[in-house]
Amino acid sequence: MVPDLSGRSFVKVIDFEPAELSYLIERAAVLKAEKAAGVETPMLSGKNIALIFEKTSTRTRAAFEVASYDQGAHVTYLDPSGSQMGHKESTADTARVLGRMYDAIEYRGSAQENVEILAEYAGVPVYNGLTNEWHPTQMLADFLTMDEHTDKPLRDTTFAFLGDGRYNMGRSLLVMGALMGCDVRMVGPTKYAPPADVIAMAEGIATQTGAQIAITEDAEAGVAGADFVHADVWVSMGEPKDVWRSRVEELRTYQINAKLLAATGNSNTRFMHCLPAFHDMNTTVGADIMDETNMTDGLEVTHDVFESGASIVFDQAENRMHTIKAVLVETLT
Ligand code: CP
Ligand code: NVA
Repeated sequence: MVPDLSGRSFVKVIDFEPAELSYLIERAAVLKAEKAAGVETPMLSGKNIALIFEKTSTRTRAAFEVASYDQGAHVTYLDPSGSQMGHKESTADTARVLGRMYDAIEYRGSAQENVEILAEYAGVPVYNGLTNEWHPTQMLADFLTMDEHTDKPLRDTTFAFLGDGRYNMGRSLLVMGALMGCDVRMVGPTKYAPPADVIAMAEGIATQTGAQIAITEDAEAGVAGADFVHADVWVSMGEPKDVWRSRVEELRTYQINAKLLAATGNSNTRFMHCLPAFHDMNTTVGADIMDETNMTDGLEVTHDVFESGASIVFDQAENRMHTIKAVLVETLT
């Protein structure tokens, strides 16, 4: 049966059942093929979508805008200083105002609570474009990309996440992997593991889906046999700059480099990263930190791995657009 997702919000990974997530990934693949063939049919003509960004973005904003335009919808971008929300108007009041004008609202910011209040009060679908806690639209892109780069069903794939698992990406990959029935390894120092309630949630889901969950400090054991290894930045948006030096010291053994990739024992392992990534000296932040910490080959990933044939990060970035388009089409029609 085809799931009916009309009117649904997507503010955290568990908002959709595994069958609904699989359906969205399949729909994204179809929309991607239709666009490539020049036969896409706009299904969102006359729709208006508000894009609230309280944190900066390249991919997520671009993906929402292009997906909307391709489908005939219009967007309004409200930049990190461009709305009254939270400063002069409560989130609940903003939700009720925007819900009268727009057919859907995307929100990127710090607190998960804000996107949940928007969803409660807006009366239209609300999408989480990243909070400190969750990055649900990124998950659809990551799993479409994994599906494109393996012959196995997703439930038979093994992936590892290395680094800071406390934030949006680590938490989301753990729970999405559990929902999709994967073999998931969260690899990093115990103090950077996802919080206990998120691990418990993933373990509970795994009993239903057959997923396997491992939390380990052992980098080489954690990546053994992995089809995919995922990294994220070691310091997330909103964290103070002065944590960089200690973070690098704590996480440097979890850098994805050629030696760690070889430790998978799998010559087909692919490298993934939600981006942006610190892999060279061509960013102001990256160059400062790499100089200071003497890690001139990269931080969470080395430049050679990032640029290697194992790296599928730009397919992953492109798939943000196709998967967000699937969410818009399926929730707004
Ligand atoms: N991956 C991701 O969310 O990228 P942006 O921060 O550029 O949107
Ligand atoms: N964990 C990162 C993800 C960026 C897409 C951050 O929150 O900055």
